[in-house]
Parts: sequence; structure tokens; C-alpha cells
Amino acid sequence: MGRLDNVTVMVTGGGSGIGRAGAIAMAAEGARVAVLDIDDALATRVADEITGAGGAARAWRADITSPDEMTAAVDGARDWAGGVDVLFHSAGIVAPAMLKDMTVESFERVVSVNLTGAFVCLKAVLPHWIEAKRGKFIGVTSPAGVRGQVGGGNYAAAKGGVIALVKTAAAELARYGITANALLPIAATAMSAKVREDPKLEERFLSMIPLRRWASPEDIAPSVVYLASSDSDYMTGSILSVDGGRTI
Ligand SMILES: NC(=O)c1ccc[n+]([C@@H]2O[C@H](COP(=O)([O-])OP(=O)(O)OC[C@H]3O[C@@H](n4cnc5c(N)ncnc54)[C@H](O)[C@@H]3O)[C@@H](O)[C@H]2O)c1
Repeated sequence: MGRLDNVTVMVTGGGSGIGRAGAIAMAAEGARVAVLDIDDALATRVADEITGAGGAARAWRADITSPDEMTAAVDGARDWAGGVDVLFHSAGIVAPAMLKDMTVESFERVVSVNLTGAFVCLKAVLPHWIEAKRGKFIGVTSPAGVRGQVGGGNYAAAKGGVIALVKTAAAELARYGITANALLPIAATAMSAKVREDPKLEERFLSMIPLRRWASPEDIAPSVVYLASSDSDYMTGSILSVDGGRTI
């Protein structure tokens, strides 16, 4: 018996990093996984990895900022699996710059993917969840969203917004049996590669983490399984930090 038997999960940004590790871990617990990514090849590779290991998965290409593409993906996943019970919304981007140099276009793009995209994804499943009177939304925020981030004002603003969106969703949607929580990770992924490539930057970064090391995406995955499973049914509006103590 898996902890996610008979559960269908959609994972945005499922082609890479934390989304990929979460998708694989949830599939190993019995979930059917709709792996969604803007990069078709990445999504397909992860879905193939899951089915190759005996799990149930299908890949979808969609841009999370497009309401039409997200609605089509959710409809497709519902046709495939009969419903979408959990949305793990991991897709995100960064575009570092100091505020004095940051363009409005860069700010809007990062907010569009990281924050508006979270709203678009939630909207795509919401009518079905309200009708079913259940659903679990797992957003992904960041230490930047709590503490701000030098050189990442666009990202920090967006991730702070994700916390506010998740808390609002939790308060507003509890009456329908829907929960919303946010994962707050740090992990060695493609997104954080630039920090790891620069020894000075990495040393400074790790000096701000009490545990003084990176997590792998697989270290984060058990928390994703927890948030997707019935073990977290009484939890809503929370931020689950798996960040080596960065936000203490
Ligand atoms: N890595 C970290 O240390 C860290 C820290 C805090 C928060 N996060 C957050 O965790 C989440 C996952 O990040 P990651 O580190 O795994 O990064 P990643 O770059 O490995 O994965 C992000 C995925 O999102 C996809 N994506 C980007 N834009 C998209 C769009 N418009 N539509 C659909 N898919 C899109 C990418 O193709 C990629 O597969 C992000 O929300 C990120 O902000 C990461």
C-alpha cells in the first residue's frame, strides 16, 4: 500500500529539480502523476522514468502563465486519470539583477511566472475541486519570499506573493474542503546552479544556512509526499520550510 494510492497529482515544473523529484517520489507512493512542463522533452523524460519504474505517469507541455494551456492540461489529465486531486506547483524561474539595474520587463516576467502562474494553475483546478469538495494545492515559495533577496527583487516579490496567495486560498477555500500550503525549499538544482558554480558566492550562500550544505531535490521530496498525502489533511495555510534553517 502506497501513501498516495488512488491519488492523481499534477506537477508543474515536473521536468526538473524539485518538481521532478517530487513527481518521482509521489509516483513511488502510488500516485498517478501528470508531469507538466513548458519543456516537453523534460516532462516526457520524467514521465518515462516513472512508467519505466512501474508507476503511472503522463507528460503534458504547458506554459503555466497561459490560462488556456493550463485548462487544456487539467482537462487532459482529468480525462486520463478521472480527476486531479493534488496540484504541486513547482514551476518557477529566476532573472537576477540588482534593483537599480532591473528592468520593468524582467520584474513583470518573473512575477508573471512565479506568482501569476500560481494563480493561473489554482484557477485551472478550482471549479473541479469546489465541485468535488476536496483538493490540495501545494505552492512553492522561497527564503527570498520571507527575507527578501539581494539581487533578486523580482523573485522575492513574487515568492512573497505566493505566501499571501496560499494563505488567502487556505482561508477562502477551507469551506470547500480544499487545503493550500507552501513548501519553502533550498536545493541543488538547475535554478541554483549559478551559485554553486561560483565558489565565493557559494561560500557566502552556505554561510547563511545553519546546516551549511545544500539539499538534493530528493531530500525535499518526502515533504512533497507529506503535503500531498492525507497525513497533512489538518494542515492549511502553512509554510513548510526545508531550507537547512535559512529562514530561522
Ligand atoms: N532550488 C532552490 O534552491 C529553490 C529555493 C527556493 C525555492 N525554489 C523554487 O522551487 C521550484 C522548483 O525550482 P527548481 O530549483 O526545481 O528549478 P528548476 O529550474 O530545476 O525547475 C523549474 C522547472 O519549471 C519549468 N518552468 C519554467 N517556466 C515554466 C512555465 N512558464 N511553464 C511551465 N513550466 C515552467 C522549467 O522548465 C523547469 O523544468 C521553483 O518554484 C523555485 O522558485 C527553489
